[in-house]
Amino acid sequence: MAIPIDQETSAQQQIVRHPLDPLTTQEIEQTTRVLSASGRITPRVRIMAYSLLEPAKDVVLAFQPGQPLSRDVFVVMRDHERRLTVEAVVSLAGETIRSWRERTDVQPALTYPEVFAAQQAVLADAAFQEAMSRRGITDLTYVVIYPWTAGYRGLEDAPSRGRFMRMEVALAEAPEDNYYAHPVEGVVATIELDTMAVLIEDHGVVPVPASAGNYTPDGIRAANNVPSFPDGPRTDVKPIAITQPEGTSFQVAGHEVRWQKWRFHVGFTPREGLVLHLLEYLDKGRYRSLLYRAALSEMYVPYGDPTPSHNFKNVFDAGEVGIGVLANSLELGCDCLGEIHYFDATVNDAEGQPIVLANAICMHEEDYSLLWKHLEYNVDGSTRSEVRRSRRLVISSISTVGNYEYGFYWYLYQDGTIQFEIKLTGIIAPAAIAPGAHPVSGTLVAPGLYGPNHQHYFNVRLDMMVDGPRNSVVEVNCAPLPWGKGNPQGNAWAARETLLATESAAQRCIEPRTSRYWKIVNSSSLNALGQPVAYKLMPGKNAFPLFAQGSPQWQRGGFTRAHLWATAYAPAERYAAGDYPNQQQGGAGLPAYVQKNRSLENADLVVWYTFGSNHVARSEDWPVMPVETVGFHLQPAGFFDGNPALDVPPPMAHC
Ligand code: CO
Repeated sequence: MAIPIDQETSAQQQIVRHPLDPLTTQEIEQTTRVLSASGRITPRVRIMAYSLLEPAKDVVLAFQPGQPLSRDVFVVMRDHERRLTVEAVVSLAGETIRSWRERTDVQPALTYPEVFAAQQAVLADAAFQEAMSRRGITDLTYVVIYPWTAGYRGLEDAPSRGRFMRMEVALAEAPEDNYYAHPVEGVVATIELDTMAVLIEDHGVVPVPASAGNYTPDGIRAANNVPSFPDGPRTDVKPIAITQPEGTSFQVAGHEVRWQKWRFHVGFTPREGLVLHLLEYLDKGRYRSLLYRAALSEMYVPYGDPTPSHNFKNVFDAGEVGIGVLANSLELGCDCLGEIHYFDATVNDAEGQPIVLANAICMHEEDYSLLWKHLEYNVDGSTRSEVRRSRRLVISSISTVGNYEYGFYWYLYQDGTIQFEIKLTGIIAPAAIAPGAHPVSGTLVAPGLYGPNHQHYFNVRLDMMVDGPRNSVVEVNCAPLPWGKGNPQGNAWAARETLLATESAAQRCIEPRTSRYWKIVNSSSLNALGQPVAYKLMPGKNAFPLFAQGSPQWQRGGFTRAHLWATAYAPAERYAAGDYPNQQQGGAGLPAYVQKNRSLENADLVVWYTFGSNHVARSEDWPVMPVETVGFHLQPAGFFDGNPALDVPPPMAHC
């Protein structure tokens, strides 16, 4: 299906109206002109990422439409010749380089051109060719080299020692074959990306699994490998059409969106992808603030397989690769259904030229079943019923990170609830094992092929603004009251609130036995009942670290040690695993931010929520994995004086 591009919308988006609007193609081109004119961009400098340097919070909050904007761009570059990383700030208004910092202690995210060059370097490497011929593979036409980040096995992987990536090998049986079905086990290539030097490890020969793993209709027919479906594709799936004959109930102006009582601003960065800013809810004629900024801050996928070909794998998909740059162009009727508004996103290539990711963000309304209902008996014995249907606004994007897809979905509901959900799908990264053997940490999904155990962690940074910038965090635990005079039947329980007053106190884990949740409270704003207004963060399913204390995974993934973190607002503290997780030993990000142990009482604070799932592969995850979801809710808890969705009209006159 063709991608419908709304030209008018695309043109509108290129006009910068608000200080938080994402970078435009013109701004990216201008940044490159300023850098080039300085003479500091030599032929072997690769531009990793341009991102908007967001203005100070007070500047943004005081902004009035039409005011002049001063836009600055934060630039990360790699000088492959001098083997260092450059951080620069370019002022667009002044057409000047405001700052320039050269660093040998960090490695920025990997880029596609580096991956392609590394693939060629591996294929041309004599030791690699020998490793292939030991396996009887002499024709390299269909040998696939696919990337992993290096991880951190020891000091030799430190950022100052070089810029590393690790790659693994598989065999495709045809140009569009699912090569993940045929891993060439035991071969790990380490590539130094400044010099393209290749080091091959060979951990022993295992037969290449032969069963096809194709999942397209043609692939299934060609491989004839699905005895479960002897009749072919289903023929009883009738069309579903979603139409809104009077149009949508949202309005879009540039990047600002209004939907019923919600108002917010849509942002996008190469690293985080979709960002929501300035989220507010209209209550009694005034917009009340909830969130200054909300975005995925990091993702972490540590593998639990002890074998030498796989134990290095622990990947930070946002900081080591970039969720925004990997965003898909979404297609109507395929990725999204209904009356859709798309936002394009613009990122840069290695030469600093703009790349427009058309339809990177999808926004639409969904019917979401019941909002509220009650059936009641009248005094004369007849009945009356009131029912309202729930509708939610969906703002989403999907990124492909190698073998996996991650869908990021923000949902806004009519009752003031905010939900964030991640949909995990794509292909597991399987490994080969000798026929008849069983993996220690994994599940067989096809003969000689297994899915290694791994975890998926996510961290979302929530710059809270519940009725203003001064908030506190309270933990709530439900607990029985002591059986005795005040509780004669032993039935009583209470929801106990504990203030998390400092950053060291605000490192907490889920506790299903007490239905633990956290409230973000504004104690200077009271509801009609005199209670401080609040939103509560309701955890969903979650995971705990399974790697050993002190392991590289433990050090690097420090943000997984607690589910809830809170920090005093600091503009430079943006990422749960630090600015540059690539090849990092660990310690940066949240574990470092909280060292200051700042006060969180009535403070401008940021809540960070870590959530994840343990992926024990199932045979049903092969060859492509049905969606798995993980996420959380933010719900009003005393924020409104009553049910804020009483005013939703009945869906039909007789409801
Ligand atoms: Co998984």
